[in-house]
Amino acid sequence: MNLRIASYEEYQEKYQHSVNDPEEFWSDIAQTFLWKEPWTNTLNWNFTEPKITWFDGGKLNITENLLDRHLETRGDQVAFFWEPNEMDADGKTITYRELHAEVCKLSNAMRGLGVEKGDRVCIYMPMILESIVAILACARIGAVHSIVFAGFSSNALADRINDAQAKLVITSDGLNRGNKKVDIKTMVDEALLSCPSIEHSIVVNCTHSNPEMKSGRDVWYNEIMEGQPTTCEAETMDAEDLLFILYTSGSTGKPKGVVHTCGGYMVYTSYSFQNVFQHEQGDVFWCTADIGWITGHSYIVYGPLLAGATSVIFEGIPTYPDAGRFWQICEKYKVNQFYTAPTAIRSLMGHGLEVVNKYDLSALKVIGSVGEPINEEAWQWYFDHIGKKNCPVVDTWWQTETGGIMLSGLGNLSPMRATHAGYPLPGIQPVLLDGDGNEIHESEQEGYLCIKFPWPSILRTTYGDHERCKNVYFSNYDNYYFTGDGAKRDANGMYRIIGRVDDVINVSGHRFGTAEIEDAINTNKYAIESAVVGFPHDIKGQGIYAYVVVDPSKMDDQDTIIASVMDSVSKGIGKIAKPDKIQLVSGLPKTRSGKIMRRILRKIAEGEKSNFGDTSTLLDPDLVIEIVENSI
Ligand code: WT7
Repeated sequence: MNLRIASYEEYQEKYQHSVNDPEEFWSDIAQTFLWKEPWTNTLNWNFTEPKITWFDGGKLNITENLLDRHLETRGDQVAFFWEPNEMDADGKTITYRELHAEVCKLSNAMRGLGVEKGDRVCIYMPMILESIVAILACARIGAVHSIVFAGFSSNALADRINDAQAKLVITSDGLNRGNKKVDIKTMVDEALLSCPSIEHSIVVNCTHSNPEMKSGRDVWYNEIMEGQPTTCEAETMDAEDLLFILYTSGSTGKPKGVVHTCGGYMVYTSYSFQNVFQHEQGDVFWCTADIGWITGHSYIVYGPLLAGATSVIFEGIPTYPDAGRFWQICEKYKVNQFYTAPTAIRSLMGHGLEVVNKYDLSALKVIGSVGEPINEEAWQWYFDHIGKKNCPVVDTWWQTETGGIMLSGLGNLSPMRATHAGYPLPGIQPVLLDGDGNEIHESEQEGYLCIKFPWPSILRTTYGDHERCKNVYFSNYDNYYFTGDGAKRDANGMYRIIGRVDDVINVSGHRFGTAEIEDAINTNKYAIESAVVGFPHDIKGQGIYAYVVVDPSKMDDQDTIIASVMDSVSKGIGKIAKPDKIQLVSGLPKTRSGKIMRRILRKIAEGEKSNFGDTSTLLDPDLVIEIVENSI
């Protein structure tokens, strides 16, 4: 079960082995898990259809690997310390044995509601222990979970429920976030008005907000759990059966449902967790992500539990009651491995060192970063003041689609360089391609980051639309998985991620498609047309700049229009996607063939006033002058 590499030399050996004989390499690792039946075929793949299977024919249930398997050896060990939003409120702990019992109870209850293997279940919940139970109960009975971040609007929730044709939604009455309470059941109720596939909702009483319960549809979590047996036979799953769907944004259209399957995802999240964080028995791990994102799936839930780790899960936000909250929690639970996003680091940096130095962070051994490029200044602050210059920073690059960490240092084993994610994990074969699809071998050249060989947790499809999966990830370059990121490799082979090369923007580590935000804006009654671009933002990494075309005769009431456009984005996607800047314009710069010249709009958003490169194809150059003059 211990999959941890112990030295840099061993990493190099393992890496070589994983490239020379990937099947043997991964099969040795997979054998350390609990299978009900062995696989017959370690790997089958082609990147053309694409069709990728790992451990095909193998039968398992992932929850037996992360719960049952641990009962004998660490049943009484804490699986999670739950830290509530309020600093002075009582936290909770749950041991592996208790978690097993709760998961079994909810599994039985869900089966009682008619949920069967293969059915989709939507989870729209806060950061509470019941959410972990809900996720694992789905996996136990073979239902496919689709977690939707509870900051998404009811429209966004409805889209995801409908795309997956979910039968059940698990939610709570409300959630606590800093000094705010949000009644999320209301959002669910609104969404369900247009979700005919949903038969039931299970509601956790979290904020005691006394919501309306629709009879025949809504059931309370605590009531349905009552009297359920604390054991439940785990469904037998094929390695390639769906484990979950997670919606993520792309360049075009609505968010797509990235599909991960049971066997490969299990093997890779466990392996990557143990190696990147160098987590040892007895350590306490804390990943500050939300369960609604892939980071929460892989490194709050699956990776740590598979490894039998003890983790912290936090309900609140980094700045409540003050900007010392993260560090207070690190001290309280003696956190050994801490994993957060650059945006959090940048926002906390601004609050000075007093709120950091008040706390004892000496238990920290490894500190991690994820979600967006980490700038030099934030890296240094994190290394100096949180890691006290003796914890390695693991800058982990990966994606919803990759399921697990792809490029990163391994704890204190690997050399590190600020702002560089570093080396590929064993089994990962990255390449940089030029515009013609040729591999770049020289160092310090920028290229398109692609992966040329499958790893166990690569996405298998996009739910309900395999063609889309093929087009987005496997068609740009034949026989490569295309990440959408640009990167550079230094003379020592370390990778540095530059950022997205497509129309995806990364705001505080959250991914949005510009088209998706434009669609939300275009539902607004004042908006004739719109174009959204990213611009550099000190804290968020990228901010959202929206150019909205409105009828010039209505321009005198700009504030009303801007507020109304903001509202449309909140309703269409969620408050997290609200533009930082909205500029009302009389038209968008287009080519004679009608294509929006986004390059110019990006430059204007960056503050550029005149150097727009070749503008000879521009239909109306005066429009650019107008936009520059009124830019924000
Ligand atoms: C995109 C994936 C899986 C982590 C959470 C985000 C960017 C992610 C890094 C990093 C630079 C990073 C990339 C990637 N990204 N980690 N360490 N350094 N950029 O998952 O929402 O699927 O977004 O986040 O641009 O493509 P996601």
